[in-house]
Amino acid sequence: MRNPFEYGGVVRGDAFCNRGKETSDLVRAMENGEKLFVLSERRYGKTSLVRAALGKLPRKGWVCAYVDLWPTDSEAAFVTTVAKAITESMSTSVGKVLETARTFFGSLSPSVTVDEEGKPALTFGLGKHTRAGPALDEVLETPARIAAKGGPRVVVVFDEFQQILEYGNDHVERKLRSVIQNHPRVSYLFLGSRKHLIQKMVLDRNRPLYRAGGHYPLGPIAEKHWQPFIRQRFADAHKDIDREHIHEVCELTQGHPFYTQHVCHVLWELCEPKARVSAEMLRAAVKVLLERESYAYTTLWESLTLSQKRFLKGLAAETSGMKVFAGEFVSRHGLSSASNAQRAVQALLAKDLIDRDNGSFLITDRFFRLWIQSVQSV
Ligand SMILES: Nc1ncnc2c1ncn2[C@@H]1O[C@H](COP(=O)(O)OP(=O)(O)OP(=O)(O)O)[C@@H](O)[C@H]1O
Ligand SMILES: [Mg+2]
Repeated sequence: MRNPFEYGGVVRGDAFCNRGKETSDLVRAMENGEKLFVLSERRYGKTSLVRAALGKLPRKGWVCAYVDLWPTDSEAAFVTTVAKAITESMSTSVGKVLETARTFFGSLSPSVTVDEEGKPALTFGLGKHTRAGPALDEVLETPARIAAKGGPRVVVVFDEFQQILEYGNDHVERKLRSVIQNHPRVSYLFLGSRKHLIQKMVLDRNRPLYRAGGHYPLGPIAEKHWQPFIRQRFADAHKDIDREHIHEVCELTQGHPFYTQHVCHVLWELCEPKARVSAEMLRAAVKVLLERESYAYTTLWESLTLSQKRFLKGLAAETSGMKVFAGEFVSRHGLSSASNAQRAVQALLAKDLIDRDNGSFLITDRFFRLWIQSVQSV
């Protein structure tokens, strides 16, 4: 039997837990033509949620372009990626793709080539580093043109939105501002995990996207939703897990979707059919998870300065609510001075490794904290 707990990619259908309220909130936002920034830590389920919400919209009368900005690193790449996503969302069949691209993006010289696997792929004749100004305008005006005069409703989702900060200029940011203001019939969703960067983009008066849209912070999934979800998946394989152990899993992960699925995935493997999950199994599962993440954590750790490492070790070792600039904390953790601690805090905040918490700070990734405790605090 296949392990029912999936972690890593987009989850859908049976692997998707709850998010009932969030799904309907987003559907409503799209129906109302809202512009919304959906923000959360990494691997909280933004992509899966938005995909699920898009799936709830009627097929007829709606055009939904989902744009993954992750691979883009320039304005020109942005233009072709958006043009491709819009084209694909408008094409009813593979055969129609080129025709659609010519209708909407004729000036970008679309063509269809065959990729290494023999599949047709849409490409545009826009050099990677050419000045994309007019093409940028054309592409970003297209959703409103599609929606105009009784046309279909349009939704455009930009996933991994923080990527636009890598383009080396703010043309995309500026153009998006005018698009957002002038396209009432189009809903735009911006998804991002670099909360810190995106907040800076929308909370700074001098930036084009200042207060350009609403905020939708995505939280963890509550234990009451995990309880039936986890129990049922164990039961389907004739494995038993009691309420208390599910509770412990949720405490450990604080409802973080990726970690909850990952711990459960390992637990499910460790538990034989007709057996019951035990406390030892749970401990072993956490160990496996930390080992699997160890490579990423080590790389991350090695990218930090000595003060940043010392600060994190200190934070991992202390209880929450610590006064981290107080002499006691500073000297106990070898930080030499309060201003040194302050610099470490600024750098760690900018990396999204720590977050503010009631006048103190916490390590955002709970398993990174556990890893630091187990590996680095010697
Ligand atoms: N509603 C959900 N139910 C169950 N598991 C979920 C849910 N949402 C997310 N997950 C878990 O989290 C993982 C990451 O989900 P997803 O890729 O949607 O998150 P993301 O926020 O888009 O991540 P990233 O920051 O990497 O883009 C999934 O593979 C799955 O294990
Ligand atoms: Mg994602």
